[in-house]
Amino acid sequence: MTRPQLALLGLAGLAAVAVVAGALYVLKPADRPRASFPEVTVAPGLQIGGPFTLTDHRGRRVTERDFLGRFMLIYFGYTYCPDVCPMELTTMIEAIDRLGVAGSRVVPILITVDPARDTPAALADYVTLFDSRLVGLTGSEADIAAAAKAYRVVYAKAKGEGGADYLMDHSAFLYLMGPDGRFRAMFRHGAKPEELAAAIAQNLGD
Ligand code: NI
Repeated sequence: MTRPQLALLGLAGLAAVAVVAGALYVLKPADRPRASFPEVTVAPGLQIGGPFTLTDHRGRRVTERDFLGRFMLIYFGYTYCPDVCPMELTTMIEAIDRLGVAGSRVVPILITVDPARDTPAALADYVTLFDSRLVGLTGSEADIAAAAKAYRVVYAKAKGEGGADYLMDHSAFLYLMGPDGRFRAMFRHGAKPEELAAAIAQNLGD
């Protein structure tokens, strides 16, 4: 995709998420400091995340309970993504590296929005290109739809693409979930690794 198309996709994704999430972009109460870039301010009480049952890149069925005790840094994308996803995954890994020892408490996770092509084997090939800590998750169309709904992620096959060589439109936020499995913070894509690392560090308290 061209840069203008990507920008439009980003805007469309933001608009769609805002519609889905309703009052997503509502400021936190005045007595709490406003989140700084790249953190997205989320309306208090807005439910983001929840139970999921998916298959990891080793072919193992996993749920959110398998990650209890560690933070999850979750990104929804797909392995055929030509630009945004690989950049964002690279940023995630670099940000976790920058956290040093604290970074070992954070599991980077890619949940595919393209389960038709992103089989566990395809994910295994892909995630190892980035980092051995990166976990790829896939599942049936219904599994992925349920996980995406829980995280208010919107995705769809791009129009005008034929055959097996298609692109996916998808919202591109990062989600930080706490060791209790609960939502901690949400970040815009496109941050520099040091910006993302700082934003994650602010939310690493138990
Ligand atoms: Ni992408």
